Amino acid sequence: MTKIRAAITGIHAWVPEYILTNDELAKMVETSDEWITTRTGIRERHILKEKGKGTSDMGAEAVKGLLKKTNTHPDEIDLLICATVTPDMQFPATANIIADKVGIKNAFHFDINAACSGQIYALTTAAKFIESGGYKKVIMVGADKMSSITDYTDRSTCVIFGDAGAAILLEPTTEDVGIIDSIHQSDGAGRLHLHQKAGGSVKPASHETIDAREHFIYQEGQAVFKFAVSKMADVSVEMMKKHHLESEDLAWLVPHQANLRIIEATARRMGIDKSQVMINIERYGNTTSATIPLCLWEWEKQLKKGDNIILAAFGGGFTWGSIYLKWAYDGSNHH
Ligand code: UT7
Repeated sequence: MTKIRAAITGIHAWVPEYILTNDELAKMVETSDEWITTRTGIRERHILKEKGKGTSDMGAEAVKGLLKKTNTHPDEIDLLICATVTPDMQFPATANIIADKVGIKNAFHFDINAACSGQIYALTTAAKFIESGGYKKVIMVGADKMSSITDYTDRSTCVIFGDAGAAILLEPTTEDVGIIDSIHQSDGAGRLHLHQKAGGSVKPASHETIDAREHFIYQEGQAVFKFAVSKMADVSVEMMKKHHLESEDLAWLVPHQANLRIIEATARRMGIDKSQVMINIERYGNTTSATIPLCLWEWEKQLKKGDNIILAAFGGGFTWGSIYLKWAYDGSNHH
């Protein structure tokens, strides 16, 4: 029997209009454009400012655009998975809310919470449903309103994060394209270095947790940095070795956009040139679950059928991993 693979057949993203610049941040906390640019590579990030709008609104805009550009009717979708750490609410899943907002009615939906690696975990999960043979059109959404859990009095985290939503359509193929392999790992001990202290079942919201500013991202930057650099590079090199890929065989590395220095270190370890790496962190910051599809969306027109691409991510948990895929269509022909 011919093996069914999951191919990415469309991609779309949506970012809020409002742009928060480094100079504006420098008016809010003790920082500078120079520090942020040299330490992170970030110049600006988009922020969802409208009251009453959340992660599902960005996800829904991305999905609407995706359905339109791929000529897909909402009824054709079998499954929608959303990767997010900033769900609209604790429950129900944001995936359900997105599906409702775009009129997807013949599918089931659930969220995946794996922080910045959620986007690749969700993509792999979506691919497995397609490979099972029972699912024809699956949407993976990566969306995060990081500004909703960012403490804008903490200079070590508030300069990093941004808001965005992105969506990917997956369909079965028997051609030699699509998602070929994934390597994913987690280490729960890493939770100590990156988490949100309150608002969960251990420490539900109270006046005390609010006064202590515990509903925001807590990050020990240096510890996370060290792990991110080694794990993202290790797993990407492992993927190259496993599939006998030399640097010149790779069209693109698409890394999670957490810090330009982490991205550059990963590329160096893989022996690839910066021109083979998708980097847009300077304009969006770290949008957590949306960074990789946001890159693919921006580079879509340059992508060619058969391009070898490695996706790599590292995030809270700790979670990390990489995906090896062959791009399934010529992006320049896609509208
Ligand atoms: O996506 C999920 C995974 N997350 C990541 O991968 C993030 C990984 N970590 C990082 O990207 C970096 O660690 C940060 C960007 C968060 C911080 O950069 P760093 O180079 O590791 O800085 P640091 O935390 O070692 O701080 C160095 C100095 C400190 O001052 P002192 O103690 O040396 O006087 C900080 O207080 O820089 C100071 N600092 C700042 N100064 C100006 C921290 N944030 C700022 C700031 N502006 N925004």
